[in-house]
Amino acid sequence: MKKLLIPIFLIVGISLGLLMGADPQMFEVQETYAAVSKTDLLNEFQGAYDEEVEETGVLHEINLVAAESEVELIPGEKTMTWSYNGVTPAEEIRIKLGDEIKINFENQLEQATSIHFHGIRVPNEMDGVPTVTQDFIEPGETFVYQFVPKDAGTYWYHPHFESAEQIEMGLYGVIVVEDETSELYSQDEVWLIDDWLLQSDYQIYPNFVTGHDLMHDGRWGNLVTVNSSIEETLIAKPGERIRLRLVNTSNGRIYELNFGELEATAIAVDGLLVGEVFDAEGFELAPGNRIDLDITIPADAGGEEFIVYDKFTRSTIPLATILVEGEAIETPVFDFPTNPNVPGWEATGNEPDLVYELDSQRTSGSGGMHGMMNLEWVINDRAFSDIIPDELESGEFVKIQFKNESSRLHPMHIHGQFFKVISRDGKPVDEPYFRDTVLAHPNEIVEVGMVPLDSGSWMNHCHILEHAEAGMMTIIEVK
Ligand code: C2O
Ligand code: CU
Repeated sequence: MKKLLIPIFLIVGISLGLLMGADPQMFEVQETYAAVSKTDLLNEFQGAYDEEVEETGVLHEINLVAAESEVELIPGEKTMTWSYNGVTPAEEIRIKLGDEIKINFENQLEQATSIHFHGIRVPNEMDGVPTVTQDFIEPGETFVYQFVPKDAGTYWYHPHFESAEQIEMGLYGVIVVEDETSELYSQDEVWLIDDWLLQSDYQIYPNFVTGHDLMHDGRWGNLVTVNSSIEETLIAKPGERIRLRLVNTSNGRIYELNFGELEATAIAVDGLLVGEVFDAEGFELAPGNRIDLDITIPADAGGEEFIVYDKFTRSTIPLATILVEGEAIETPVFDFPTNPNVPGWEATGNEPDLVYELDSQRTSGSGGMHGMMNLEWVINDRAFSDIIPDELESGEFVKIQFKNESSRLHPMHIHGQFFKVISRDGKPVDEPYFRDTVLAHPNEIVEVGMVPLDSGSWMNHCHILEHAEAGMMTIIEVK
């Protein structure tokens, strides 16, 4: 059977390629738009977010231990997981902008690990990437992470070694950095959305980075949870105005958000406030992405239940419930928080400064990575073991092109920076917000504008963890 499957896959792949080739739209720039001087683009960026943060002098010291623990993903059934301090997701870390975080970390796992702070602009040596920014934290070893996050928003942290296994096993937590806008809401909650691949004995399927995962969009689980629960329920009073922070911690699964009757307005993406709010319905939350929602519960909704769904695949998956009960409260009245300084940049028809071609390639030899398929995911034909870092100047505008030459999904994430999508398939788009992770759909060309600020060696990789582990990572050196 295996022998048959591979040629069929190849044939489908080839005919798909031909079909795509026959479509002239794939090769034509649909609209031409003008090149803009880099100084103008940089001027537009001024004030978008601060280079430095004003420190409050407040220190949050947290002891974190990574170890095995058990969780009830299915009520009444125990699943062995790995977690920080015995719970997955880890207990929420919530600080004010300008506060300092100090994490005394201890590794009680049987394998090396590290902690990466996804989306947070930290000093490079705190970025948690073994062999790039620090040494491995071996079993029994400790490491101290200490930094002042530079931006308010919703962030998360996770290992950056064997992450396809370690994140799937449950090692992650959220860091909320509050500013004045956080206090305006009557409730402020976090939903970490994950999917788990469970066996019939409710244990996590122990084979990671399989040939199947590599040939597809990574590992997709058979159980979707919010905050490790299949029945997560947020209790709200009629009239409440809620800030709901969604984080996709899945290895590969993308969620397309659907709120049914409820109106959900996006006020922040990947941490930072948006330039203009938008309806979050249909937003594609790829692995790594966050979105902050502003939801007002109608005053007459007492007793109602609103279910939030995912509609990315053909099956509609219920994620969690907002249950309205209790005395109605007066809805807090204020303008949607926004960042008026998000640059436009969509007018730039400039040539890209960096092009990343995303594709897979077969490797020679038998066994291959993890003894599976001989399939590597590569950026510009190179797997991570073989990359040449790209160099960028701090404080200069660059246009980066992600050119997906495969028929799979690649949510591309750059560490330590924010960027803004300016075109898709040659058409200018105006996403009025920054991101740190952007989904490149099959064969799509996505261009982003970025002004790197913090110097150091920053990872640029696919956040489908199996693709990353099969090579789809590279480094941007900011000078
Ligand atoms: Cu969540 Cu290297 O990333
Ligand atoms: Cu990928």
